Amino acid sequence: MITLAIETSCDETSAAVLNKDKVLSNIILSQQDHSKFGGIVPELASRSHLESIVSVTRTALLNAGINLKDINLISATSEPGLIGALLVGLNFAKSLAASLNIPFIPVNHIRSHLYSNFLCNQKAIYPFIGLIVSGGHTMLVLVEDFNMHTVLGNTIDDAAGEAFDKAAKLLGLGYPGGAQIDNSAKSGNENFIRFPKAKIKNSKYDFSFSGIKTSLLYYLRDVSENEKSRADFVNDVCSSFQKTVTDDLFEKTVSACSEFNVKKISVSGGVSANSEMRKKFNQLKSRNFEVYFPEIQYATDNAAMIGLCGYLSYISADDKTFFKSASLLTPAKARLDYEKF
Ligand code: KG4
Ligand code: ZN
Repeated sequence: MITLAIETSCDETSAAVLNKDKVLSNIILSQQDHSKFGGIVPELASRSHLESIVSVTRTALLNAGINLKDINLISATSEPGLIGALLVGLNFAKSLAASLNIPFIPVNHIRSHLYSNFLCNQKAIYPFIGLIVSGGHTMLVLVEDFNMHTVLGNTIDDAAGEAFDKAAKLLGLGYPGGAQIDNSAKSGNENFIRFPKAKIKNSKYDFSFSGIKTSLLYYLRDVSENEKSRADFVNDVCSSFQKTVTDDLFEKTVSACSEFNVKKISVSGGVSANSEMRKKFNQLKSRNFEVYFPEIQYATDNAAMIGLCGYLSYISADDKTFFKSASLLTPAKARLDYEKF
C-alpha cells in the first residue's frame, strides 16, 4: 500500500511517500522569504507553495523510487492552516487522486502531529496522553484509540511556539525563534527571572502564554542598559523564559496522566524539538513512564506524518468508498466532523 502525502498548511511545502507505515521519502522545503517580515505572510506562503509543489512531489517520488502508477492512496492536510496555503496542497492532491482514479484522504494537521512519533518502527501505544506543541497550537489530548480522542486542554491565547517566537523577536534573535532560544538557554541561568505562571479559572488543562510574553516585554523595557550589555544577559533571560513555559507544559501533562491513569506520553509539534522539553519529559522514564518524542525531522511540519495519519484513517474506515467520492465531490470537512479537534 503506497501513500503519497502532501503538507502545505503553513510555510513548509512537503511531500512524502510511505509504504504502509514506513517512510520511503520525506521532502521538506522551508520557505525562507518570511524571516525579514518577522512572521509568516500568508500571500507569500501560498505563492511559494504554488511554485514548488510539483518539484517537491517529483523529488519525493524519485527518492522513494516510486512512479505515479504505483501510488494507491493520496492524503493531504485539509485543516487547520492558512487557507490559501491549504488550498494549494489540497487541490493539487485531490486533482492527482482524481486523475489516477485512487482514493483521497483529507487529514487534520494537528491530529497528524500526534502520530509523528510512530513513524520510526514504533507502533502507536494506546492509551496515551498527547501533548501537541507547535507554532499554532498547544493541545493536551487523551488518545484511547485511533478514532477516540478527547481534547483535555487548549491554549486560550498564544500557542507555545508562538510564545517562543515572540520572545525571540523581543530579544532580537530572529524568526522563527524557538531554536535560537533553546540554544541561548543552554548557557543561561534558569532562575535569573521568575516569570509569573498563568492561572486559568475553572480549567485544569488549558494553557495561556500571552502573559509571560507581556512580562518579558515590560522586563526588557525597564531593565538598565548596563545589565542588558552583560555577556550572559540574553542567555539568562532565554533560560528563565524556557523554564517557565516548559514547566507549565510538563506539569499539566503529568497531572493529566495521573487523573486518567495513563503512563504513556507522546509529545509532538515544533516545540517538541526543544532540548529542555526532552530533558524534563525523559526524566519520567525513571518513574516507569513511556515517553515518545519525534525524530527532529518529524517534529516540525512534514508530509510523512500526514501520510501515516491518512493511511491509518484509510485502514480503519469501514466504508472505503467514501474516500473515492471525497476526491471528487465532498468537502474535506465532512469526513472530519467525527473528529473532536
Ligand atoms: O509544528 P511546527 O513546525 O509548525 C506549526 O504547526 O505551527 O512548529 C513550529 C514552531 C515554531 O514556533 C518554532 O519556533 C518552534 O516550533 N520550535 C521550537 C524549537 N524548534 C522549533 N521551539 C522551541 N525550541 C525548539 N528547539
Ligand atoms: Zn504543525
